[in-house]
Amino acid sequence: MRKPTTPALVLASVLLATTPAGAVDLTPPLSAVAQLGKKLFFDPALSGSGVMSCAFCHDPANHFAPANDLAVQLGGPGMDQPGFRATPSIAYKSLTPAFSIGPSDPASEAGEATPMAIAQTSDTTEDDATGAIARLLVAKAAGPKKGDTSGALVARGGLFWDGRADTLEEQALGPLLSPFEMANKDRHSLYLTIRKSYGAEIAQLFGAPVLADEAQTVDEAAFALARYQVEDPAFQPFSSKYDAYLVGKAQLSPAEARGLKLFDDPKKGNCAACHLDTPSHDGHPPLFTDFEFEALGVPRNPAIPANADAAYFDLGLCGPLRTDSFASKPANCGLFKTPTLRNVATRHVFFHNGVYTKLTDAIRFYVLRDTQPDKIYPAGQPFNDLPARYRGNLDRADAPLDRHLGDKPALSEAEIADVAAFLQTLTDGYTR
Ligand code: HEC
Ligand code: HEC
Repeated sequence: MRKPTTPALVLASVLLATTPAGAVDLTPPLSAVAQLGKKLFFDPALSGSGVMSCAFCHDPANHFAPANDLAVQLGGPGMDQPGFRATPSIAYKSLTPAFSIGPSDPASEAGEATPMAIAQTSDTTEDDATGAIARLLVAKAAGPKKGDTSGALVARGGLFWDGRADTLEEQALGPLLSPFEMANKDRHSLYLTIRKSYGAEIAQLFGAPVLADEAQTVDEAAFALARYQVEDPAFQPFSSKYDAYLVGKAQLSPAEARGLKLFDDPKKGNCAACHLDTPSHDGHPPLFTDFEFEALGVPRNPAIPANADAAYFDLGLCGPLRTDSFASKPANCGLFKTPTLRNVATRHVFFHNGVYTKLTDAIRFYVLRDTQPDKIYPAGQPFNDLPARYRGNLDRADAPLDRHLGDKPALSEAEIADVAAFLQTLTDGYTR
């Protein structure tokens, strides 16, 4: 498959995001391939139902997340097939590193990541690149900390809640062919649809012989979708109040500032241990995720139709949507990827199963899970979305998830409100 993305473009969009307001707009126009990707992204004809485009679920008006309150979206040929997971925002996803298993990454702990776009186009392997950064940063260890994972092998990166796609182009074929999303019958019918509407453009961009090759035509369409997400700064605007604050152009309100402190404090929220919030050593704004996988044990969501079957469990890294060799390892069951918290205050549902509809409930989960479980789970059924045999995988090491029944919650109600106020500063499109 072709190389997906150009690092310069990713970096350009990051840098341009910090261009002062009023300055000449130097945003490069989208490449011809990205323009094709943009058309594909908004085209409902690319679905079996004829009404569902990527934008249907990843709404640009809501930071590329759904604007409705459904835990899982409805799709399929008749638009009545429920999905299995909450739809994430796809802003900032081009900066996701490829899936890997390795030592808990000191580079990531210090706010560094190797964006997949950069790793895949560099001549060095991702491990080389990450290793070099790790060596540079090995001494930097202040601030919020994870529980003792030093030396332990951890999963990180990849797209989807379970990291099962390594690149944006690989990912794009998922929804196009999923029977409960865009529901093209198979690659052949997808090929016919693409050729019908975009044949001329694809021949012009990639050469006429590509059109004769079904697999290559579909791959080029996926490539175009990826390029659109990489190139259009709308996907990675870095235009939140917090971004302005980091460069000294905005002041946090007292509640926001208290919330940031609690977010960072290892004895309080400790959120930044996983949702990294400081710029990298070369000044790249933080992505609010270390891309690592954890089993938090969020409560089961009865609003997901699949959950009507008491024997059904979404176990993340160990399936059922992930089916490779990682899925067969019991130690991976219940683990999901740490999502970015950028634009989190605009989400309508929270966590992989969309179990919460209020941001404060999502925060409260962290501090009551162990201290007052009856406020989180149905009475007497803690961790009701993870079979008992996998509960050893639960994260009990990282504060505030290291407390016990009856302990004082790490955050008071007033402090939960402050953390929520801080999270509001992560919404893009801030203007004074
Ligand atoms: C029916 C709603 C729906 C449609 C339509 C849809 N998606 Fe998604 N998208 C989702 C859901 C749900 C997930 C998470 C699925 C999972 O983790 O298994 C997701 C995940 C993603 C991710 C990975 C996000 C992450 O956090 O790693 C990307 C990128 C993405 N979609 C892009 C697209 C593109 C491109 C299209 C069009 C070709 C598209 N989506 C169409 C619902 C949708
Ligand atoms: C040990 C790592 C870790 C720590 C510490 C942590 N989180 Fe998370 N966070 C995650 C993971 C993993 C998920 C996804 C879990 C899932 O969906 O099952 C998540 C999901 C979330 C979500 C849902 C986002 C969405 O788009 O659905 C919110 C909100 C959130 N975290 C806020 C916080 C706050 C606030 C704190 C501090 C009180 C915190 N997190 C501490 C790892 C962590």
